[in-house]
Amino acid sequence: MNTRPTEAADEPLPGHNPPLLYNLVYCSRASDGVDNDAVNQIIETSRRCNPARSITGLLVFGSGIFFQWLEGPRDSVLALLALLKKDPRHHTVVLLTSGEEVRERLFPDWDMELVTADAVRDVLVDALDSAQDPQNAESLRELLQQLDAGLLNGPAKG
Ligand SMILES: Cc1cc2nc3c(=O)[nH]c(=O)nc-3n(C[C@H](O)[C@H](O)[C@H](O)COP(=O)(O)O)c2cc1C
Repeated sequence: MNTRPTEAADEPLPGHNPPLLYNLVYCSRASDGVDNDAVNQIIETSRRCNPARSITGLLVFGSGIFFQWLEGPRDSVLALLALLKKDPRHHTVVLLTSGEEVRERLFPDWDMELVTADAVRDVLVDALDSAQDPQNAESLRELLQQLDAGLLNGPAKG
C-alpha cells in the first residue's frame, strides 16, 4: 500500500536549486522570400546548435513576423543574439524584454520549438496554467499581453 502523503508530490525535490537563467524576447520581420521551408531550416539549425549552448526556447512565425523566446546562460544567449542580428533571413530585430533570474526553464524540453501564430496563444495559456513559479507565470502573462496587443498580426507600426 502506498502510504506517501499526496501533498509531497507538489513539494520541490530536496537539494534541487533552480539555475540562474537569462531570458529574452525579441520580434523581427522576416526578409522577403523567407517561407515555411526557410523557417524549418532555421529550426533544424537551432535544434542542432542550442543544446551545446544550453539554450531552450520558442520561435513563433506568422504574418511575416518572428517572435522568439530564448533562455539559457547569459553569455550563451547574448552570443546567439549577436549572431541572430546578422542573419539576413530577418531584419528590424526589436528586443522586447530581457532579464536574469533564478528560476526553472519555461520550456525545458524545447531546444527550439516552432509554433504557428494560430497556436501560440494555446501554448502560452497551457504553460501559464501549469506554471508553479510566480516569476514564470509573470513572464508568460507578459508574453500573452504582447500577443494580444496584435504583435503577430502584421508589421509593427511606428
Ligand atoms: C528568426 C531566427 C531565429 C533563429 N534562432 C536560432 C536559434 O535559436 N539557435 C541557433 O543556433 N540559430 C538560430 N538562428 C540561426 C542563426 O542566425 C545562425 O544562422 C545559426 O546559429 C548558424 O550560425 P553560423 O552560420 O555562424 O554557424 C535563427 C535565425 C533566425 C532568422
